[in-house]
Amino acid sequence: MIEFTAPDFATHVVPGPMVEVGVWQGNHAEVMLNHWRPSRLILVDTWIYDPKDSLNESLMGTNAREIRGRYLEVVNRFEPDRRVVVMRMSSIEAAGLFADDSFALVYIDANHDLDHVTADLDAWAPKVRSGGWLCGHDYSLFDSVKMAVDEFTGGAGPEFVFRRTEGDVLSYAIRR
Ligand SMILES: C[S@@+](CC[C@H](N)C(=O)[O-])C[C@H]1O[C@@H](n2cnc3c(N)ncnc32)[C@H](O)[C@@H]1O
Repeated sequence: MIEFTAPDFATHVVPGPMVEVGVWQGNHAEVMLNHWRPSRLILVDTWIYDPKDSLNESLMGTNAREIRGRYLEVVNRFEPDRRVVVMRMSSIEAAGLFADDSFALVYIDANHDLDHVTADLDAWAPKVRSGGWLCGHDYSLFDSVKMAVDEFTGGAGPEFVFRRTEGDVLSYAIRR
């Protein structure tokens, strides 16, 4: 397993359309746009309060008006960039809208519970082109993410891990 920071990992990224699943305020979407230079970037997030998601309340709060405001901030933030498409829907619902082999890279950072990460990996893996990357955040922070990724790779683990920015926790990168 080789470790990079995002600018170094960018040399391994293949050109083409990309997806971020789990966007929140769009900070990492901006890193993707700057370092990985997607031809198109699909941003998928429910932007809802979900009490069954262990991360959700601390990120989203419970106020529907504030949560809608957060979604609109992301729409406005990326409105000038014609590469960006914002989809307010669940990860699995969005994955179902795309043909297989559609993307050069998919980055998963949504619900971090084990069954959700597993379902996200299963749903998005076929959407990544051969030679592309199935990536996600928090490989070194959430046991649930590590377990899901290691199981998905048959115990081999991801080819690469990388830090999105200096000092960030490790993201995983699985080559398709
Ligand atoms: C950790 S945040 C994403 C942070 C973002 N990737 C970043 O680094 O800037 C997780 C996001 O996943 C979203 N989310 C949770 N479950 C989801 C699901 N099933 N489908 C789509 N988005 C989901 C939440 O609404 C939340 O905004």
